[in-house]
Amino acid sequence: MAEFIPVGSFDIVIFGGTGDLARRKLLPALYHRWADGQIPEDSRIIGISRSEMDDKAFRAFAFEACEEATPDNLSKSEWKKFEKHLHYVAMDATKPDADWEELKKLLTIQEDRPLVFYLAVTPKIYVPICEALGNAGLNAGASRVVLEKPVGTDLASARAINEGVGAVFAEECIYRIDHYLGKETVQNLMVLRFANSLFEPLWNRTAIDHIQITVAEHYGVGDRVGYYDGSGALRDMVQNHLLQLLCLIAMEPPNSIDGDAIRIEKIKVLEALRPITAEKAGRNTVRAQYAKGAVQGEAVPGYLEELGEKSGTETFVAIKAAIDNWRWARVPFYLRTGKRMKDRHSEIVVQFRETPHSMFGRVESQSNRLVINVQPDEGVRLYLQIKEPGPGGLRIKSLPLNLSYADNFLVRYPDAYERLLMDVVRGNLSLFMRREEVEAAWKWVDGLLEAWDEADVPMETYQAGLEDGPVEARLMLRRDDRDWWEA
Ligand code: BG6
Repeated sequence: MAEFIPVGSFDIVIFGGTGDLARRKLLPALYHRWADGQIPEDSRIIGISRSEMDDKAFRAFAFEACEEATPDNLSKSEWKKFEKHLHYVAMDATKPDADWEELKKLLTIQEDRPLVFYLAVTPKIYVPICEALGNAGLNAGASRVVLEKPVGTDLASARAINEGVGAVFAEECIYRIDHYLGKETVQNLMVLRFANSLFEPLWNRTAIDHIQITVAEHYGVGDRVGYYDGSGALRDMVQNHLLQLLCLIAMEPPNSIDGDAIRIEKIKVLEALRPITAEKAGRNTVRAQYAKGAVQGEAVPGYLEELGEKSGTETFVAIKAAIDNWRWARVPFYLRTGKRMKDRHSEIVVQFRETPHSMFGRVESQSNRLVINVQPDEGVRLYLQIKEPGPGGLRIKSLPLNLSYADNFLVRYPDAYERLLMDVVRGNLSLFMRREEVEAAWKWVDGLLEAWDEADVPMETYQAGLEDGPVEARLMLRRDDRDWWEA
């Protein structure tokens, strides 16, 4: 059984309290932290949204949400104790005449009691809500605000949000969430790199041939098609999750794991990302949409059929990126992500260089590979060459040293939001994005979007559920005499 360090008493106010994120992630995460004894008895969880509802109805909504998220794990008697923490206030926080008194009556505003405002709403209303919080005097004491991704839809809108929110809350009170940073395996990237002396001497252009980052999803866009069509894979996944993974893999060792130390190193990586110009976009990127296909033998529609109209939004993207610094000169970083891929698998592959000379004659490969499975089947595999036992010639095989999480740890896997929510309460900013990080990532992504337009990079297709992206993504690596890693 893992040990949890309780946090101090706090209040959390969730704007969008009856929305999708609250239902799927936030309420179940808070329930789990409570069930593990991490949340003190006088803490409050307050849902806010426009729907007319009372505490009782909100508690019923939260119960269903938690039951859906953890069907085997919810005891009704325990729930009765937990639900006392839940409250609800119906209001439109963006209206100038909104009445904040009902909310204020529920809160305890004290210098040392964290008051968390979680904006699980569209980024368009981040600034109006923060302004209203400021006008109501709620940005006082130990208050802090959490912004869900995406912070904006491009550099200009991200800057406007950062300015507007920054006018009400100081930077150290703004928690920009990228839930990938709360995943166990993603945090383990830092431990793997910086708590083992084995890797650091090899972690550079001399020993590493290239790095691949794949985040493949098997589900389609489903009922998020409205949001997704205005976004696409580049904005929805690369701007945040994939670039954050890239930063953790590529950054210099931070001085400590506190506050800004990690964030400063990540910003340097983002600033060293080579812009992809229109001239290079056709060669170094691939964009695609899924066409109709099949998932587990069942036919599924293509993206355009789901949307019901024409669209130039990509559901898959592959990029050959470069980091212009001393450590990574001439080491390509291949990134790819897509919806409706063959299956759900996210991994980082560090491909080491071939041995400089082979004394064993022709063997398939003499290079090592470190594969970090982000999800599912979380773990780390280090591929080494070994001699296959037996006479009849020297046969060499590539086999992994396999460190599987499931085999080594018997704890329930906490959802990323559990860790991140408790970090917000504790005031630990190290797993959240700083303003400069978000803006540097948008700058690079904006450049690529412009390059796609300028060069008119074609929209390729792949069969939903049957292919890991379009053939062009494979060809992009083939041109470099490389292949995507397949387990
Ligand atoms: C979200 C994206 O940020 O991450 C979704 O908006 C995506 O489109 C999701 O499906 C993936 O998260 P996870 O944790 O399921 O890998």
